[in-house]
Amino acid sequence: MLRLAIQKSGRLSEDSLNLIRECGISFLSASYKLKTEATNFPLEILYLRDDDIPGYVQDGVADLGIVGQNVLVEAGFPALEVEGLGFSKCRLSLAVPRAATYDSIEDLQGVNIATSYPRILGDYLTERGVKANLHTISGSVEIAPSIGLAEAICDIVSSGSTLLGNGLREVETVFRSEAVLIANQNLSAEKKELLEQLQFRMQAVRRARR
Ligand code: PRP
Ligand code: ZN
Ligand code: MG
Repeated sequence: MLRLAIQKSGRLSEDSLNLIRECGISFLSASYKLKTEATNFPLEILYLRDDDIPGYVQDGVADLGIVGQNVLVEAGFPALEVEGLGFSKCRLSLAVPRAATYDSIEDLQGVNIATSYPRILGDYLTERGVKANLHTISGSVEIAPSIGLAEAICDIVSSGSTLLGNGLREVETVFRSEAVLIANQNLSAEKKELLEQLQFRMQAVRRARR
């Protein structure tokens, strides 16, 4: 039996469930049940916080996961990626208050930046020779400038409405992301075989959607 971890509630949740269903896999789901078993494929689905998924797959607590590449890379396990799934596309961007002057990345030298992605942002800034003060917060990052916590932020942008609603302007794209399928690297032969079957179905679903 394969154990697949997906996001409990968030941007990837619905599309992840739809993909599994379109693969012809049936299961019952109720929002309060955090674990469910498929009825016609040897698959168990775990509903977890997305940030926890890479670690669980790395450790083998879950065999597979569906997670944003942003979360995967930030967790430090990029090698777990098996394939891109083409949905939940977004970008990790730097943003400043609408009225702030910003000409280039140099303007972030010594600036306080709030983010949930200190690893990806840290690497990006280091590569460009910029030394900023990163303040790691786990959510509602876009509020930081308006409460005096930071002069800039770096967070996920999808439609852009969160930035807009908080008076922020996108100035740099740091990373582009989409949902990816990830797998533990020491799967048994049986599990590998099941993973191949699942990937085959996922690819067929994507072809049919085009
Ligand atoms: C991101 C980000 C914003 C929102 C932006 O959160 O933190 O809250 O999406 O989307 P928009 O541009 O469409 O307004 P995410 O869904 O990644 O959830 P999480 O960080 O809470 O896991
Ligand atoms: Zn999250
Ligand atoms: Mg968020």
